[in-house]
Amino acid sequence: MPADDWTIAQNWAGYSAQDHATWDHLFNRQARLLPGRVAPEFLDGLDFLRLAKPGIPDFAALSERLMQRTGWQVVAVPGLVPDAVFFDHLANRRFVAGNFIRRPDQLDYLQEPDVFHDVFGHVPLLANPVFADYMQAYGRGGQRAGGLGVMDRLARLYWYTVEFGLIKGADGLKLYGAGIVSSRSESLFALDDPSPNRIGFDLRRVMRTCYRIDDFQQTYFVIDSFETLLDATLNTDFGPIYDELALTDDLATDAVLPDDTVYTLGTQAWARAKQVS
Ligand code: PHE
Ligand code: FE
Repeated sequence: MPADDWTIAQNWAGYSAQDHATWDHLFNRQARLLPGRVAPEFLDGLDFLRLAKPGIPDFAALSERLMQRTGWQVVAVPGLVPDAVFFDHLANRRFVAGNFIRRPDQLDYLQEPDVFHDVFGHVPLLANPVFADYMQAYGRGGQRAGGLGVMDRLARLYWYTVEFGLIKGADGLKLYGAGIVSSRSESLFALDDPSPNRIGFDLRRVMRTCYRIDDFQQTYFVIDSFETLLDATLNTDFGPIYDELALTDDLATDAVLPDDTVYTLGTQAWARAKQVS
């Protein structure tokens, strides 16, 4: 693989005992918390990929398992990569993962995605054929959209699905977004807290909605199933939607519209308590 795709060697042998212990701590904490709260497809992925094996996963072995199921691979990068590089990897069924792990004093929060967020958060659902296709379609969509000046719209779709999505389950809402499932506090907040809105997924609605990168979300969007998410995106030409949205105002992070399917009308108490007056 050429290095201009930003990939590096994972250098698995370079992890310290502390690095592996950090992974194990985070893994065990989430593995205890998530059953019953997360989409069953996520737990199935953890199981199929044998992620419960102690220590930071070796991307080569992980990719081999993943490849058998859905044809995806996990490749290492030093951190965030440019949009075009990211889209190119996704379009070719390669998920880019940071190879470093957070320090022991960053267990609950860090700014850049590390190997725990990227692998524990994102990779289990890549073992699901439908979600795997969604991620590839997203990459292709990004390639098409490059240069159209619509990256913020496309980024919102990723944010509110891949990172912070909720899904309807047989017995209530479940988590599936990687940013939620890799965070202990947000795994609780996103599902149980009365503060955020929980609103039915609608493509245009999501692409208009601003998001927060500094705190828990004020709104989570709920998909009916991975099939409906794939269908609503893959079989829709985004060209006319980009044109339409160029003429439409953005929506605030806590907006609720008359047409929304509201699962929870949030109190927004969490966000208000943090406002500096
Ligand atoms: N169908 C979208 C387009 O026309 C691409 C896309 C598919 C985007 C799936 C996101 C998810 O560009
Ligand atoms: Fe992520």
